[in-house]
Amino acid sequence: VMSPVNIQELMYHNLPADYMEILKWAGEKALSMGAKVYAAGGIVRDLLLGIECLDIDLVVEGDGIELARAISKEHQGRLREHNQFGTAKILFPDGRQVDVTTSRTEFYQYPAAMPQVEASSLHQDLYRRDFTINAMAVSINKESFGDVVDYFGGREDLERGLIRVLHNLSFVEDPVRILRAVRFEQRYYMSLESHTLKLAREAMHNNMLARVSTERIWEELKHVFLEPRPGLVLARFMELQLWPSLFPGVEPEKVRPVLDKITRSLRTLRYWNVVEPSEIWMIYFLAVLHFSDWTVASEVCRRYHLSKRQTNKVAAALGGWRSILKKLQEPFGVTMSELARQVKSVPGEIYPLILCYLTGNSVKKRFRHVLNAVFYNKPQINGKDLRLLGYEPGKQYKRAMEALWQARLDGVICNRQEEMNYVKKYLVNFEGAKDNV
Ligand code: CTP
Repeated sequence: VMSPVNIQELMYHNLPADYMEILKWAGEKALSMGAKVYAAGGIVRDLLLGIECLDIDLVVEGDGIELARAISKEHQGRLREHNQFGTAKILFPDGRQVDVTTSRTEFYQYPAAMPQVEASSLHQDLYRRDFTINAMAVSINKESFGDVVDYFGGREDLERGLIRVLHNLSFVEDPVRILRAVRFEQRYYMSLESHTLKLAREAMHNNMLARVSTERIWEELKHVFLEPRPGLVLARFMELQLWPSLFPGVEPEKVRPVLDKITRSLRTLRYWNVVEPSEIWMIYFLAVLHFSDWTVASEVCRRYHLSKRQTNKVAAALGGWRSILKKLQEPFGVTMSELARQVKSVPGEIYPLILCYLTGNSVKKRFRHVLNAVFYNKPQINGKDLRLLGYEPGKQYKRAMEALWQARLDGVICNRQEEMNYVKKYLVNFEGAKDNV
């Protein structure tokens, strides 16, 4: 057992000053209300690891709603109350948020062996949580500000790098925790503690995940896809044979090599200044599905209730990447404009995957060149010039500009004057064609 520790200093160093102010203020307010208040969960874990954490989760022994009201009033937050649960969310103008829960003693049955002295409502609140590293709190009460509350050895597990459940039924109570365990393990380069791993395997063996709604699984998967290194998490899911439950029908072996490379590819694309795709999670979802037939992939999309728009995007990406890859690798006879047109026609979320498959510097360079063309090679003339020529913006104008873009990429056109001539000619031909109809 580790000796008690106070992390006030750490808090001052690692939390934004305005947050510290709120915490201090909340502690004093609680005192005047005869309540106690703690910051719990991820914030303690991340403070001890020296990692930034902006989500604050307060546990109040007393009236949590009343304290939340006071905090939001004093600090210009918007309050969302859930009175039946005794919880509230405070939203601050800068986008950060503080969750406040009321810890309660009344509904809880303690295992007989648990000494009753420990049965504070904070203890019970923490005991309901998933892993020891997530089940710590830090006092923000005036007299004990910064004292870490660690009933279950969370600090020791953090130091040893172990993800450990608090009790044997944890995965049965909430099977999503199997996925969370792996997510935290990979995020912090830790390991599942051996008994915990055994319990997780048992829960998987009993097909516990099938009892969870696909909505909850998808919520967790999206969390995974937004981790710093989703590939590691997905690879570990594979190792633990979770893929059949998560992505039915998908053959893992084909996907495995990509998982190690995809985050690096994404980083390379950022370095190349390629415009960030709008749905980062989809990069990893596509990586999972890229080798599957559309029957399998579309079934997975349906399973997780992707919208029509998202499903279409997935379809476009999965239908397009192979041919782009082939054209990049066999450049003879493929014009720059054709390549650029194809690359532009698939969602940007598939670009990292394409890059994973490119070997050799010259091919990568070619891809970079094409992407550069897609995002940054813009004609010098614009709508204003066309209007001066007497053309109104419209369908044919768009087509003309598209044709001009392609001509530029193929090096047919090199300067502003040539651009003007090209578009003029294009539009005249177009008009002529129209007259002939
Ligand atoms: N929790 C749990 N079981 C779950 C989900 C959450 O016990 N299925 C608990 C965890 O102990 C966690 C707390 O609820 O500390 C808050 O959950 P969440 O915000 O998801 O976790 P964080 O620890 O903040 O993780 P992240 O850094 O990914 O936001």
